[in-house]
Amino acid sequence: VKIAIVGTGSVGQTLGKRWSALGHSVCFGTRNPAEARVQQLVSETGHGASAATVADAVRPAEVVVLAVPYDAVEQTLRGAGELSGKVLIDATNPVVMGADLLRRGLLIGHDTSGGEEVARLAPGARVVKALNTVGATVMAAPQNGSDRAVLFYCGDDGSSKQTVAQLLGELGFDPVDCGPLSTSRLLEPVGMLWIALAFGGRGPHFAFKMMSVGA
Ligand SMILES: NC(=O)c1ccc[n+]([C@@H]2O[C@H](COP(=O)([O-])OP(=O)(O)OC[C@H]3O[C@@H](n4cnc5c(N)ncnc54)[C@H](OP(=O)(O)O)[C@@H]3O)[C@@H](O)[C@H]2O)c1
Repeated sequence: VKIAIVGTGSVGQTLGKRWSALGHSVCFGTRNPAEARVQQLVSETGHGASAATVADAVRPAEVVVLAVPYDAVEQTLRGAGELSGKVLIDATNPVVMGADLLRRGLLIGHDTSGGEEVARLAPGARVVKALNTVGATVMAAPQNGSDRAVLFYCGDDGSSKQTVAQLLGELGFDPVDCGPLSTSRLLEPVGMLWIALAFGGRGPHFAFKMMSVGA
């Protein structure tokens, strides 16, 4: 799969390295492809990965991963070029990172969500909310023996969700379809729960698990 990873922070780096190693064609979309830090990331990633401006990375991509801070989403999508028809994985959480993170919590919710706002800003994109409910440490290694971390996702387009579930499964997750994109209103609080536990003393090395009972 041709994947554009937009944002070269913790999430972008982790996903880009992993999907690249799994044989996918990864291009990092970044504000500054020439930056030494970005070039270093490209060489560490290997497997033919590259870096380009966000618009140049997005153009040939089948799947685009949005991994920028929430307050940079609007500007990033406006500069991303044509996203119509592409699978757009929204990994963001509508929070402001920093000392106030836990006190402020989610910036929006109840009657909309980050996922729905992303869809509004990227008309025609097939938005799938995913990868917002665990930390980047979990994305790096979502398995513990045969146990797989659950990864909730949602979206309005069935075939896009199949593509995303396949990509999540390859990473080692147990992907769970949670329904339409409006379910982002529930998945973003789950992301906030993971953040609250991680920052509240548990640290980042844990994940949620789905299991069958009473069957
Ligand atoms: N960290 C986690 O464990 C985690 C887990 C799940 C979801 N998320 C969500 O995923 C998104 C990315 O998280 P992250 O931890 O990877 O963030 P991060 O480390 O801060 O990196 C974000 C990247 O976004 C790009 N960017 C574009 N516009 C920006 C701006 N105005 N200011 C700062 N960076 C900008 C930058 O890449 P370039 O310089 O290359 O453009 C930057 O490296 C966030 O929305 C976060 O809520 C994070």
